[in-house]
Amino acid sequence: ALPSKVRIIDVGPRDGLQNEKQIVPPEVKIGLIERLERAGLREIEVTSFVSPKWVPQMADNAQVMAGLVRKPGVRYSVLVPNMKGFEAALAAQPDEIVVFASASEAFSQKNINCSIAESIERFAPVVEAARAEGIAVRGAMSCTVGCPYEGEVAPAQVAHLAGLLKQVGVQRVDVADTIGVGTPLRVQRAIEAALKHFDVDDVSGHFHDTYGQGVSNTYAALQLGVWNFQSSVAGLGGCPYAKGATGNVATEDVVYLLHGLGIETGIDLERLVDAAEYISGFLQRPSNSRTGTAIARQ
Ligand code: HMG
Ligand code: MG
Repeated sequence: ALPSKVRIIDVGPRDGLQNEKQIVPPEVKIGLIERLERAGLREIEVTSFVSPKWVPQMADNAQVMAGLVRKPGVRYSVLVPNMKGFEAALAAQPDEIVVFASASEAFSQKNINCSIAESIERFAPVVEAARAEGIAVRGAMSCTVGCPYEGEVAPAQVAHLAGLLKQVGVQRVDVADTIGVGTPLRVQRAIEAALKHFDVDDVSGHFHDTYGQGVSNTYAALQLGVWNFQSSVAGLGGCPYAKGATGNVATEDVVYLLHGLGIETGIDLERLVDAAEYISGFLQRPSNSRTGTAIARQ
């Protein structure tokens, strides 16, 4: 049986906007986050405490965090690559930090400028410090299906990375198809690899929609009992170090799928489309969500 409820983390403000060419001011990011809250999102990935030289779009991380009016019951998460990022993040008091590693060596080098093993060494003290502060720790695993530099990625590489993250105290993991090349069976193999080390309640699906497979891959993950997902309102985004990859699967498309399956999300689709229209209006381009576009036309 499929799960009866699903929890979605909207990563639009972070994954969605990190690759944006035009400057998105902190007020607009905050406006987007407020609309996501109004739509019923209870987890939002707000920003990244990474080097502003590497990802200029996230340079306003502290301002965005400080400008938020925190809603009770909403979990605000931020990406952290190292101790320097953690110290800056700590001042902003996130509910959860996300360390991010890659199942492929080449992507690890391009994205965070170190090997997989070195990244784990960097994360260990970060995870320890976060947990000592009572901050939850998630681990994003990139390139669990394919890598822009190495091609196909084997499930064994995913299992290996999941084991390393578990060892350093990461509490839950995201199985990410960074470049959106996955199809249902390959995504299921990657998830099963993560499930060797993490409980199904602690594994989430993070699918980019480059090849239009994000909704199918979500369904494939549901069949394995996965009930946590990351997606971006309006299908925003892409990773600056994964050239050619498009945004995450749109939250609207995932919610439409889930509601059609009778799965509870707590999300109001009409209000979610309002959030999508807000950010698409600012960016002056149409939403990437098929569902959102269909609803907006009615
Ligand atoms: P590095 O150049 O090797 O770092 O970058 P370093 O330690 O040698 O430091 C170099 C300079 O950066 C120093 O400054 C540091 O202070 C500074 P300088 O002395 O030259 O003035 N620095 C920092 N500044 C602010 N915040 C920090 C920080 N750390 C060092 N945390 C580093 C290594 C990891 C910092 C860099 O590679 C980086 O920031 N990478 C981030 C890349 C990124 O954000 N990628 C996108 C997110 S991942 C993603 O999108 C995938 C995901 O969605 C899942 C999926 O779909 O796969 C999560
Ligand atoms: Mg991503």
